[in-house]
Amino acid sequence: MLKKCPKSFDTFGYFCTYEKKQMNNLPKRYLVTSALPYANGLKHIGHLAGAYIPADIYSRYLRAQKRDVVFVCGSDEHGTAIPIQAMKEGTTAQAIIDKYHQAMKEDFADLQISFDVYHRTSDPLHHETSREFFSYLHERGELETKETEQYYDEASSTFLADRFIKGTCPHCKSNRAFGDQCESCGTALSPDELIDPVSTISGNKPVKKKTTHWYLPLAKHETFLREWILDQHKDDWRPSVVGQCKSWIDGGLQSRAVTRDLNWGVQVPLEDAAGKVLYVWFDAPIGYISATKQWAIDNDKDWKPYWYENDTQLVHFIGKDNIVFHCIIFPVMLKLHGNILPTNVPANEFLNLEGDKMSTSRNWKLEMRDFINDFVKKENGGDQCVDMLRYYLTQIAPESKDSEFTWKGFQDAVNSELVSIFGNYVNRAFVLMHKLCGGKVPRFVEEIADEKDHQLVRDIANARTKIEASLEQYRFREALFDVIDLARKGNKYMQEKEPWILAKTLAENPAQQQKIDNCMHHCLQLAANLAVLINPFLPSTAKKMCSMMKVVDKMLDWENAGSMKLLSVGYSLREPQLLFRKIEDEEIACQMDKLRAGAIAAVDETKPAEEKVHALKEEIVYDDFGKIDLRTGIITAAQKVPKADKLLQLEVDLGFEKRTILSGIAMHFQPEDIVGKQVVVVANLAPRKMRGIDSNGMILMAEDASGKLHFVQPEHTIAAGAKVS
Ligand code: 2FM
Ligand code: ZN
Repeated sequence: MLKKCPKSFDTFGYFCTYEKKQMNNLPKRYLVTSALPYANGLKHIGHLAGAYIPADIYSRYLRAQKRDVVFVCGSDEHGTAIPIQAMKEGTTAQAIIDKYHQAMKEDFADLQISFDVYHRTSDPLHHETSREFFSYLHERGELETKETEQYYDEASSTFLADRFIKGTCPHCKSNRAFGDQCESCGTALSPDELIDPVSTISGNKPVKKKTTHWYLPLAKHETFLREWILDQHKDDWRPSVVGQCKSWIDGGLQSRAVTRDLNWGVQVPLEDAAGKVLYVWFDAPIGYISATKQWAIDNDKDWKPYWYENDTQLVHFIGKDNIVFHCIIFPVMLKLHGNILPTNVPANEFLNLEGDKMSTSRNWKLEMRDFINDFVKKENGGDQCVDMLRYYLTQIAPESKDSEFTWKGFQDAVNSELVSIFGNYVNRAFVLMHKLCGGKVPRFVEEIADEKDHQLVRDIANARTKIEASLEQYRFREALFDVIDLARKGNKYMQEKEPWILAKTLAENPAQQQKIDNCMHHCLQLAANLAVLINPFLPSTAKKMCSMMKVVDKMLDWENAGSMKLLSVGYSLREPQLLFRKIEDEEIACQMDKLRAGAIAAVDETKPAEEKVHALKEEIVYDDFGKIDLRTGIITAAQKVPKADKLLQLEVDLGFEKRTILSGIAMHFQPEDIVGKQVVVVANLAPRKMRGIDSNGMILMAEDASGKLHFVQPEHTIAAGAKVS
């Protein structure tokens, strides 16, 4: 029987998992996976918060514990979503996956998601791995075949699987329902359930045609699933995950088709299966295995123990829409194939944005790339912006219910917590150490230590235990809260000790220097501990702190947390660098404008083309037009307006005078390319202040069907200031 360990249990009195695992032997190795994102578009911060940041924190924590961990991911490049995106972008499926695979890989790297391998399912290694998997199951008679009637588009000679068929949702009556899922209410659908189905290829009403497919008979595995999930994992998996599994199992497990009639995907490895591919949800999770194989090839390792040995801890990080695939279908496949099963599937709920669900079609989203462009790549020290985003997304992680990203919330989290608590603590400790202790780590004299000093030591040790217990149980929000709480305790300690007040009377009472030294010694050891504890969450911040302390990154090993000997006495430290900058009101306003403008543009996009092009403004009389004074001008200088993505500041020569005009064309032209261009200017428009600059006029532009802007110009360049009518 397990006994409670006297020195290490979390504050709720639970036996900490780490201790429990130590007694029962830790897993020998860890395999951490993040859901493979579809290579059909850029991913937003909801994806990041759901499956990538938590997995990254967990992997970084395990690495800091020196455990054997491999963190795998890659692009999901099959399924009907890919050819459909290709149709939308007027290109090939191959071009789509190449473009988005590269883009997603770069975005994850920019946000410091530390995959050990980022693979792709179009890779031959993955095709081979998936085919072997299918054949193994097929040869052992674990798959059923069935002939059914399925929708078929005669115009394109195509069976209409999944996203190739659209209709009305039988549940919410939305017309944004597809053959696999309703986009409005999220219900999983089959094509037969759609009301008034149409082909998304031709727009025609489909006909029914016979076809044969292979099915995974899930009902045969009900007893296994009940025992494995509802008995064995009912306490250590998240209640929402167990709940969703229970309702799937109780609802009756249906056989699932694992093949499709499609020309994009992994070919079914059977002679009588021409034109058929593996269903994307059959091959995608096998992508975790092929990614591990690729990692092993690249690092000269053996991949097999990660998928076959029971002392491997396999953890899938996913969003809640992927639960059925990772907790029911893939485990059945793994069991049949002789692999290990996941130890946990810490699925997150959804992240909303400014009061609404994130949506690509409504353009209500914040893509990772937008944040990277607007914050990370815009300034020196973009790394701190990466950590700011990682901080806020962890603080609001939808671990047990849907949560919400707001720009105001982001600003508050950064300014009131990262800057005012964590950053401020570290900065004060360094500044005071330079001022009061000559820039060196002072000595601590135990004889004069008081209760506050002892309490701080206990606080640090308890924080480590508690944070560790939370991380081992995938409670990342709570773990992060406790890191910040420890910094808060550090601020309080410093405030109560007031070394700066003691310093004022040093001349009369030189013995006080030792009290100052004791306080600063503890403050610096706490700063070093904070670096260790924050490292899995905010890796750049931890690195920067190491550089300030002139210590190597090895100090960040988890075993160092709780020690009061991380910095040697007499060691000289660098001047502090600010760890975080404040987020200004203007930045937030700008992001809100951008979000609303994007959503308005998306609504406009949905209007029929004729309506967009031909809809005229209300009729005016000649006198209305006569009031407008249009003149030719020449652009003599152009530059970007700081913190305004869309604006260029132009100097325009009107012949009789020079004007400053702000124009919303920065997304379409580089400043250096438009100097010397002739333009037509609304010259009598009242001045308007934007971003603190007076704009005196407006440049006429024409927009083509693709949304690109062009200057309206006379046929040949003519003198500046000429009237246009
Ligand atoms: O929902 C999605 O975005 C899927 N591409 C996730 C696949 S996860 C795994 F199975 F590969
Ligand atoms: Zn619906």
